[in-house]
Amino acid sequence: MKVSFVSFLPMEHELDKELRAAFERVYKRSWYIEGLEDEAFEKAFAEFCDTKYCIGVGNGLDALMLALKALGIGDDDEVIIPSNTYIATALAVTYVGAKPVFVEPNLKTFNINPSLIEQAITAKTKAIMPVHLYGQACDMDPIMEIAKKYNLYIVEDCAQAHGATYKGKTVGSFGDVAGFSFYPGKNLGALGDAGATVTNNKEIADMVRALGNYGSDYKYHHIYQGNNSRLDEMQAAFLSAKLPHLDRINIERRRIADRYLAEIKNPEVILPYVADNMVPVWHILVFVVKEEMS
Ligand SMILES: Cc1ncc(COP(=O)(O)O)c(C=O)c1O
Repeated sequence: MKVSFVSFLPMEHELDKELRAAFERVYKRSWYIEGLEDEAFEKAFAEFCDTKYCIGVGNGLDALMLALKALGIGDDDEVIIPSNTYIATALAVTYVGAKPVFVEPNLKTFNINPSLIEQAITAKTKAIMPVHLYGQACDMDPIMEIAKKYNLYIVEDCAQAHGATYKGKTVGSFGDVAGFSFYPGKNLGALGDAGATVTNNKEIADMVRALGNYGSDYKYHHIYQGNNSRLDEMQAAFLSAKLPHLDRINIERRRIADRYLAEIKNPEVILPYVADNMVPVWHILVFVVKEEMS
């Protein structure tokens, strides 16, 4: 049997009515940028992440890059990131002019190994970016302790982990600021590119919003050298239609993953380890197998 890696149709068909209604609403209103849909989704997603602020942006890379920029991270700074991640984590760092410093993963969870972080810290280190990879939260307690000890920012990369928890707390609510991707294949996916930055800090929130809107704090008043990276109304409306279903979809992902984890008994296959204090959302389920050498 051929199983496709990602198949959007069953997911979108299930929410066909809601998605069409979202399209109609925006189309009839004919207001496409910075409007009611954006406002409503940002409020709902901030609540979902248990943070005070959410700023919709163009994609996950911008969500991280604008977060770093808002923290004042730039030339000559270093940011610690996991070596096992998607390229966007590193690109967000290099786009603001800083240097990514790679730390190896814990081979059981595939996430950054907290015990290797301290040795990567230098006088130039400004932040640690934990990436909650494949839908499983990083071991956040030791990471938060290190950040506190060395006075470093925490910028969470939550692109693959919408709704994952660590000790009952949702990813995105641990650090100073966090970035999410709503690329169509993500646990919460738009019907195009989209992303969001979340934070509890009003100053960071205001700055991310301005930076993503041509550096403007109000119309035609430009206080920073910004970008154009805004969540458009159509994508915000689609995301609002999908968000109420996310918890249920994450539970279903766990049910399917739990079956693989319980029933694969092959000693050649190393399964991901899930600590008791984690609830993963399995963006993808990664196994390690020995490569056959020919
Ligand atoms: C870990 C991680 N960070 C960041 C991103 C960037 O998100 P986007 O593709 O929306 O820019 C991705 C996307 O795949 C990702 O997997």
